[in-house]
Amino acid sequence: MSTYSDTTTNDRRSVALTKNERSGNNIVCVASGKGGVGKTWLSVTLSHTLAKLGLGTLLFDGDLGLANVDVQLGLMPDRDLGNVVAESITLAEAVMRFPAGGFDVIAGRSGAGTLAMLDSTRIAGLRHDLLSLARRYDRVVLDLGAGVDGSVRTLADAAAILLVVTTDEPTALTDAYAFIKLSAMQNHDIDFRIVVNMAGSARDGERTYAKLLRACEGFLKLSPKLAGVVRRDDKVRDCIRHQTSLLVRHPTSDAARDVEMVVERLGLGR
Ligand SMILES: Nc1ncnc2c1ncn2[C@@H]1O[C@H](COP(=O)(O)OP(=O)(O)OP(=O)(O)O)[C@@H](O)[C@H]1O
Ligand SMILES: [Mg+2]
Repeated sequence: MSTYSDTTTNDRRSVALTKNERSGNNIVCVASGKGGVGKTWLSVTLSHTLAKLGLGTLLFDGDLGLANVDVQLGLMPDRDLGNVVAESITLAEAVMRFPAGGFDVIAGRSGAGTLAMLDSTRIAGLRHDLLSLARRYDRVVLDLGAGVDGSVRTLADAAAILLVVTTDEPTALTDAYAFIKLSAMQNHDIDFRIVVNMAGSARDGERTYAKLLRACEGFLKLSPKLAGVVRRDDKVRDCIRHQTSLLVRHPTSDAARDVEMVVERLGLGR
């Protein structure tokens, strides 16, 4: 039977990798729980920052329901994950270039339903192919969809580092906590790191992180480290409106510098 096709069932349990299968030590997943906290923008900016450091980087749009990496980058993909799932091309053949950023992209397909309906076995197949493809790159950044369902967690299980993005909104914090809790139940070895996005200041962001840390330590006995605070910056909205990377239009902006700090703190630039 094919790996991806036949979406007649809709089994969205998460499928965990065994320790031996988990080989994606160059993969960073960007997750959140709550939608709209800046995962896609952060994934794009992380990828561009890594590429600028000379690292061969692939950005994978893992938002299987509402993919929009291509929209944020102004790309017009002539091939995407939809073709991969339909088995007309391989995952490697779905790779395209974002020339202005010097990194590769695998685009998703928004709203088609095909990807959103994939069952857990097929998502695990996609993850398997991504783990193979990742060997050709120095770094792979995987932008995940919102929510905590099994499909998101199955993809997230490929990661060496799982970046959980939150803002200071109580709903973002509770959803980030829920995501960490469910993911940790599935896989005890995950290296969770927290990014506080759209913070008023570095101090505000650290306070937000402290709230999440308290909940994780109190209820889950986990102490995820802070990967960094990214300040709210109007330049982010500007680059998204112009459908390009922040590092193309505003390479020295506050948010661009904050993402550089995240890369440094995570040791991803080496
Ligand atoms: N640091 C920031 N400063 C200002 N605005 C920001 C910042 N980060 C993100 N945004 C704004 O938040 C919006 C949502 O960002 P993005 O689409 O990346 O979120 P998301 O978490 O991927 O959403 P979804 O869950 O729908 O996939 C962007 O359109 C942008 O305007
Ligand atoms: Mg997104």
